[in-house]
Amino acid sequence: MAANGGHIRDYSKGVHLSKKPQLPLVTVNTTAGTASEMTVFAIITNQQDQTKYPVVDKHFTPIIAVNDSELMVAMPKFLTATTGMDALTHAVEAYVSTAATPITDASAIKAIELIVNNLEAVVTNGQDREARDAMQYGEYLAGMAFSNASLGYVHSMAHQLGGVYDLSHGLCNAILLAEVSRFNAKQVPERFVDIAKAMGIDTAAMTQEQAVNAALEAIDALSEKVGTKQRLADLGVTEDKLAFMAQNALNDACSLTNPRKASLEEIVNIFKARM
Ligand SMILES: [Fe+2]
Repeated sequence: MAANGGHIRDYSKGVHLSKKPQLPLVTVNTTAGTASEMTVFAIITNQQDQTKYPVVDKHFTPIIAVNDSELMVAMPKFLTATTGMDALTHAVEAYVSTAATPITDASAIKAIELIVNNLEAVVTNGQDREARDAMQYGEYLAGMAFSNASLGYVHSMAHQLGGVYDLSHGLCNAILLAEVSRFNAKQVPERFVDIAKAMGIDTAAMTQEQAVNAALEAIDALSEKVGTKQRLADLGVTEDKLAFMAQNALNDACSLTNPRKASLEEIVNIFKARM
């Protein structure tokens, strides 16, 4: 804003709308989650109208991103878990995105491997430097993937839960990821077979449907292990807000690259399945 002027909302009605580079920005990362230290995304919460929306602009990218696991060893367990599930969601949504490329695919698949193999370890023992390092590489690779391939309905829907109920972004993603993936897998099942393999599942003797289901179950099982498999109703979400949130989710820029188009009712039903 300092370099380009106007209001932040002026930059949310499309992508890459700013004209000039921002002032030089150096970021020092303290979680293995959002990848905001290196992506083209920023997330804005408008408390007046209870919405949360992404602003996507190449000029947001910092000139230097510092990632040092020393800065993460004291992260509380729940923050470690929710930010880690956010990173996993970035990788999965980028991998099934309509804008995915071989470059983002390679980043996303490696990110899934690293996160799935290390998230439980860092939640159990925050001092595990090897696992913390691996989570940093995982979240950074997931950031490379989604900064280029963008995201999907998990993020569109999680933004609304954050805007209306002020719930943790990573927790919302963790709750929705397997359910949105169940919806998307009807369109791109082969992508979820790849995700199953990246999660360490031996799919050799499985049908495509079995492999897809194994991936979805593994996502929820990991979420359960790290304490993020929760019900929306228990977090204060009420049915009367679902249509409002579903409409805003469909308008969210992250919805543009979701592999399967949903109706308002289908988005409401995904929310309901996790109530
Ligand atoms: Fe995210």
